[in-house]
This record gives sequence, structure tokens and C-alpha cells, in this order.
Amino acid sequence: MIASVLPTYSRAPLTFVSGEGSWLTEADGRRFLDLGAGIAVNALGHAHPALVAALTDQANALWHVSNLYNIPAQQKLADALVEKTFADTVFFTNSGTESCELAVKMARKYWYDKGQPDRTEIITFSGSFHGRSSAGIAAAGSEKMTKGFGPLLPGFTHLEFGDHDALRAAATDKIAAILVEPVQGEGGIRPLPDVCLKGLRDLCDEQGILLILDEVQCGMGRTGKLFAHEWAGVAPDIMMVAKGIGGGFPLGAVLATENAASGMTAGTHGSTYGGNPLACAVGAKVMDIISDDAFLADVNRKAGLMRQKLEGLVAAHPDVFEEVRGSGLMLGLKCKAANTDVVQAGYAQGVLTVPAADNVVRLLPALNIPDADILLAAEKLDAAATHVKEANA
Ligand SMILES: Cc1ncc(COP(=O)(O)O)c(C=O)c1O
Repeated sequence: MIASVLPTYSRAPLTFVSGEGSWLTEADGRRFLDLGAGIAVNALGHAHPALVAALTDQANALWHVSNLYNIPAQQKLADALVEKTFADTVFFTNSGTESCELAVKMARKYWYDKGQPDRTEIITFSGSFHGRSSAGIAAAGSEKMTKGFGPLLPGFTHLEFGDHDALRAAATDKIAAILVEPVQGEGGIRPLPDVCLKGLRDLCDEQGILLILDEVQCGMGRTGKLFAHEWAGVAPDIMMVAKGIGGGFPLGAVLATENAASGMTAGTHGSTYGGNPLACAVGAKVMDIISDDAFLADVNRKAGLMRQKLEGLVAAHPDVFEEVRGSGLMLGLKCKAANTDVVQAGYAQGVLTVPAADNVVRLLPALNIPDADILLAAEKLDAAATHVKEANA
């Protein structure tokens, strides 16, 4: 008999009932150090007092009104995003994949309105992940995500990550946009080198192509800048955001320049829940905290400490780990042992990590994880690695 919850996830036998900071408590009372943060969602940890207050204050005032009316919390968050980023305008969604839907629509509508209705093709890269909607899976294009779900949304050209020649050859005047994650998350914590992101921007400028960045996982302070592309000193035309922006409340956004968004006039797009007052009240508070320069400086300092500890772990367990990779607090341990064994062994040590493709264990802790918890995390991962090595001996 099918489970009452559609069985699309293979779940660990863990049931968390409460959380505080970087810690989760299981129903049986065990405490777990959370280095997954809901896959980069709980950017400020669990039950952050300022977020709880923002949510309860809004809940006591008003839960929902339609986008037929003005929503002050939405306006506040949009203003903050416009002030702190490349963007001139923002549309709010509820998830990353909804942000992908709009980013694709926006790019195509742009060219339609410019009198080039056939300019619909979007270049994407192997190993990418853009969510599970029809546009999201067609964009990523991997067999794992698309098999059985055809016919797929057409109009995506899939290129090998890092194949510059193929990219240059594909960048014709039929290309509406290039869509890329500055740091691939699900693909195994694979950062796009700054020089490549700059090269992509140059190529887009030469050919008039729109650059769409998917910062759903790597954005909102995760790499130590508010958005990851800032490290390369370039800006996109359109950017997808979700996960960390809501700090655990479902919220996403598409940010765009005035030019890129020019086709999206009244009636061209909408969402019942997107920009809901509860979500935006939390999001505005998250933005307040994360966009602060001192907060981001501390993320970089913590990232340095964590990376140093992980490098030590790799040196101590060469049979289990191959290398550390990533940016800021978006880190990956490329494994020699099976990454799932490392994740499992972590459970026994009371530490939560997340597997990714390319045999990588992902570490995406809360951006405000205390230093003491970083040191403890290293100890727990060390014990987990010892266990994996012994089990494989
Ligand atoms: C880079 C990236 N894009 C899009 C998505 C999809 O986001 P959501 O699961 O909120 O739809 C994810 C989710 O992991 C992601 O990592």
C-alpha cells in the first residue's frame, strides 16, 4: 500500500520535534548538530528570536491578502533587495523552482517584446539543478530528473560544465539567456571560477544574451557575500533566489534589471501566495540581518575556521576524504568512501550533513553557527570518518 505521504523521498529514520540555533532535537531526546540547515534554508539557525518575533507580530496582525492589494512587508523586502543588489525590481515566489519558472518566462518575453519571438533558447550546464517544476527539470536536463516526465518543455541547450569551446559555438543569436549557478549545490558544491563568470558576462554582453543566475542555494550570504556573483565583480540580468531568504519560511524571489524585466507588464505573471505578508515579514528581517556588512564579515571568518578544520579532517582521513571544496559556508567534502556512508555515520555521532552528486558530503550550516559548534562539528565528523574507515577495512 502506498504511504500516505507520497514516497518521493527516501527519508532517514529521524523525527525532529524542535530546534534552537544550530541544534535539532529528535523525538527521543537526542540532540543533533545541524550542518545541513534544511539544505541551506535555515540561514540564521532554528527559532532565531528576531524571526520568531517578526512572524508572530505579522501573524497577530494579518496572515494573507491578495496581490490585488499593497503588501507593506513585501514592499519593504523588495526595497531592501533593490537597494543592496544589482536589481531594479523583484517578484516574490514561494520556492526556487517557481523562481526558475519566472526567470525563463521573463527572458523569453523580453525577446518576444524586442521583436525576436524565435529567440527562446536557454543555455544550461551539466550538473545543474533548478528545481522540480517542468521548466526546472527541462533546464537541468539530467536523465535522473527528466526520465518518464516527457514531453519536456523545449528550448534548453545543455552544455558540459567547463566546456568553453562548446559555449562559444552555442552562443548564437537564437539564445535568449544563459542560466547558471555560481556555485552548483546539488551538483556537488562546484564553484564556477570568478574568471568564468566574468567570461560568461562578457559573452552575454557581446551577443546581447541575458545572464540568469540561480542563487537559490548559494545566495543570501551563504558564500560570505550577500550574493555569490559579487565575488566575481559582475552582475546578472535576472537572478533566482529562495531557500535562505525566508530563513525557514517558504519564500523565493526573482530579481531583475529594469531592462530584463521590461516584458513583464500587468497581467503577464502572478502568484496567489507569492509575497505573502507572513513570508515577507520574516524575509525582511532575514535580509536586515544578513545584508549587514559586519554579519557578512563574520560569515567569512567562520568559513575560514570551518575550512581549516575540514582541511585537517581530509589530511587525517585520506582513505575517506579527497578534498574540501566550495565557498564561504557552502562547503563540500569530496569523498573516497561512499558519501552516503559518511552521512549515515554522522547520524550516529549526532551530526547532520547532506549528500550531493559527485560523491560529495555537503556542509551548509547556519551562517551564525557559533565557533564552538564548528569545533564540535569537526570532532563529530572526525569520529564519523573513523567509523567509516573501520567499517570499510
Ligand atoms: C540551485 C537551486 N535552484 C533551484 C532549486 C529549487 O528550489 P525549490 O526546492 O525551493 O523549488 C534548488 C533546490 O535545491 C537549488 O539548489
